[in-house]
Amino acid sequence: MKEFEGKVALITGGSSGIGRATALAFAQKGAKIVIASRREKESQETVAMIKEIGSEAIFVKTNISQAIEVENLVNQTINTYGRLDYAFNNAGVEGILGPSIEQTESNWNHIIDINLKGVWLSMKYQIPEMLKNGGGAIVNNTSVAGLIGIANFSIYCASKHGVIGLTKAVALEQATAGIRINSICPGLIQTDMAYRIIGKDDDSKFKAQFMAAHPIGRFGKSEEIANPVVWLCSDAASFITGHSLTIDGGYTVQ
Ligand SMILES: NC(=O)c1ccc[n+]([C@@H]2O[C@H](COP(=O)([O-])OP(=O)(O)OC[C@H]3O[C@@H](n4cnc5c(N)ncnc54)[C@H](OP(=O)(O)O)[C@@H]3O)[C@@H](O)[C@H]2O)c1
Repeated sequence: MKEFEGKVALITGGSSGIGRATALAFAQKGAKIVIASRREKESQETVAMIKEIGSEAIFVKTNISQAIEVENLVNQTINTYGRLDYAFNNAGVEGILGPSIEQTESNWNHIIDINLKGVWLSMKYQIPEMLKNGGGAIVNNTSVAGLIGIANFSIYCASKHGVIGLTKAVALEQATAGIRINSICPGLIQTDMAYRIIGKDDDSKFKAQFMAAHPIGRFGKSEEIANPVVWLCSDAASFITGHSLTIDGGYTVQ
């Protein structure tokens, strides 16, 4: 019997990158998967990959920044699979990067609504369902930008610092209820988002700057985030809650 057989995991931002890799990692351990994101084609590709490895999955088209859509997402999860055990609240955007004084109110609202409000809304609707099963585990995806400042990423940094604080407070609220809530802080991981930031060009200025920031000498892979997320949800991490796990190739220890 696989470790997560009979369990249900909800992954926001499962249409690509870290979310897709984590959905597959949960599925490998036998969990049924709910993918929540906006792009239909890419999300259905993730669903097909999960089915190929022998598990079950559905896609619920969701804009994570809208309460009514997040409520619908959790309702669809329960209507389809009858329970919710794990959630990886991963959906996020980098928005428009640049000096803070040049930022617009609409870019602020866009980033904060998805990266911070989206995580709050997700937990708001996920937790009551987990309580019905006597517990569960949630991992929220933040970033090294939730731990340190990065010039030209001010709104993104604010959103990700916010997720760490939110995670700690909600973890305390649920500590005796059997729901463990942690966050992860990845360094630069090779995904669409990373390539939008550093460019695909080998000699891009940003690529060299970010590479130098990773003492391990390379960028991370989505699977190197997926495995710690699955571990944090497993019984092997049963005494860990409210923690921010840094997975950054040494970025923040310099
Ligand atoms: N890559 C990195 O270097 C890095 C480092 C640290 C942290 N992170 C964090 O990791 C998370 C995943 O990013 P990624 O690197 O895997 O990039 P990605 O491939 O661009 O994935 C972002 C995911 O978020 C989803 N998403 C964005 N806005 C959404 C919304 N309003 N509602 C629902 N889903 C939404 C996207 O799906 P749709 O477009 O289909 O909606 C997509 O699945 C983000 O929170 C990011 O901040 C990334």
